[in-house]
Amino acid sequence: MTALKRTLVLIASVGFVTTARAQTADPTIGRRLAETTCAECHQIDAAAPDPGPRTGAPSFVAVSRMSAMTELAIKVFLQTSHPTMPNFVLTPDEIDSIAAYIKGLARKERP
Ligand code: HEC
Repeated sequence: MTALKRTLVLIASVGFVTTARAQTADPTIGRRLAETTCAECHQIDAAAPDPGPRTGAPSFVAVSRMSAMTELAIKVFLQTSHPTMPNFVLTPDEIDSIAAYIKGLARKERP
């Protein structure tokens, strides 16, 4: 399978799982999780400390503005292992909350 096909299959299965479950995404919880698990490498909002370019990780404000990074794409990303990021142990609810938090930044943090 090509990488694109794999991603599409993943997106399809994640979509199925998310619609089958009750919505429990809470951006406030997402924000707290971002502080504890992501802030080491990502600037988690415009006012947060910037860990600097050495981590190679885009700020969450930048992520929230990437057109390809839909809420679903963020969830898929957080459910797959990533070579440059540690493998997190996040529950599906936590993933939903982080994705909701990041997408919320695009609405809040206009330049
Ligand atoms: C140890 C450092 C590190 C930590 C901790 C980390 N990341 Fe990342 N992250 C990276 C790097 C480096 C990249 C960019 C390179 C890449 O996409 O492979 C990245 C990219 C991303 C992207 C963008 C992917 C893309 O395709 O552009 C998202 C979304 C993301 N991280 C979310 C998170 C979330 C949510 C957390 C916390 C749960 C987190 N990261 C914690 C290092 C980290």
